[in-house]
Amino acid sequence: MKIITIASLKGGVGKTTLGIYFAASLARRKKKVLLVDADPNNNLTDFFLRTEELESLQTKSLYNVLKGRCNLKDSIRSIEPGLSVLPTTPELAKAQIEFGANPGTTLRFQNSLKSLDLDYVVFDTPPSLSYELYLALYNADHVLCPIGFSRWTIQGYQLIADACLENNVSAPVCVPFNVSKKDSERISEIDLPSTKTSIPKSAEFAKSAINGKLSDKVFGDFNLLTKEILK
Ligand SMILES: Nc1ncnc2c1ncn2[C@@H]1O[C@H](COP(=O)(O)OP(=O)(O)O)[C@@H](O)[C@H]1O
Ligand SMILES: [Mg+2]
Repeated sequence: MKIITIASLKGGVGKTTLGIYFAASLARRKKKVLLVDADPNNNLTDFFLRTEELESLQTKSLYNVLKGRCNLKDSIRSIEPGLSVLPTTPELAKAQIEFGANPGTTLRFQNSLKSLDLDYVVFDTPPSLSYELYLALYNADHVLCPIGFSRWTIQGYQLIADACLENNVSAPVCVPFNVSKKDSERISEIDLPSTKTSIPKSAEFAKSAINGKLSDKVFGDFNLLTKEILK
C-alpha cells in the first residue's frame, strides 16, 4: 500500500481537484484506492457524498475513527469500482487540540490503514501546518503540491518541503495546475521539482464540482500525470 498526500499551504490551488481525479484515475487503472478527506472544509466529501445527511456523515467520519468511536473499515463509502472515500465533517477542526499531542492516534490510524486491502491511499489536506496535514504526511510515499504560476504559491512550497523533511518524507513534487501553456513553460524554468505533465485550466472542473460528478473529458491529462508519478 502506498500513501500519496496532496498538500499546499495555499488555498484554491487545486488540491481537492487533484486528489479526486488522481485517485479516480488510479481506480480506473484497476487499483484499489481510498481517498481520505483530511480537510475540515470537507469539499472532497461534498463532491462524492453530498446526498448523505450530515448526521450520518458525522457518525462514520475520519474524526470519529481517530476518536476510536467507529472503525475505519465500516466508515469507508464505496464510490465506484476500486474507489472509496473516508469522509470528513467540519468537526475534524477539533483534531489539532484533541490529538495533536498524542502520536498514538496517528500510529493507530496508520495501522488501521495497513490492515485494509488497498493499493493506494490518497489524502486531501487543509492549507495549514495542522494535525490533519501531519497525519497525512506520516509515512507518505509521495507528496504532490499543485502550483500555479504565482509568487505566493512558490513561496508556500518551502514550508511543505520543510514539513516533509521533518517527517523523513521525500521532497514534495509540484504539479502545475489550472495553468495556461505559457504558465506551465514558466514553471518548468523555476528550480523546483515538478512534473512534466501539467493540468490545464478548464471549465470542466467547475462544472464537475457543481454537479459532484467526475468529468470523463479531463481523464486524458490525469492518466498522463498518474503514469509519470508512478513510474
Ligand atoms: N484545472 C482547473 N481549471 C479550472 N478550474 C479549476 C482547475 N482546478 C481546480 N479548479 C477550480 O478551482 C477551485 C479551487 O480548486 P480546489 O481543488 O478546491 O482547490 P484547493 O483544494 O487547493 O482549495 C475549484 O472551484 C475548482 O473547480
Ligand atoms: Mg480543498
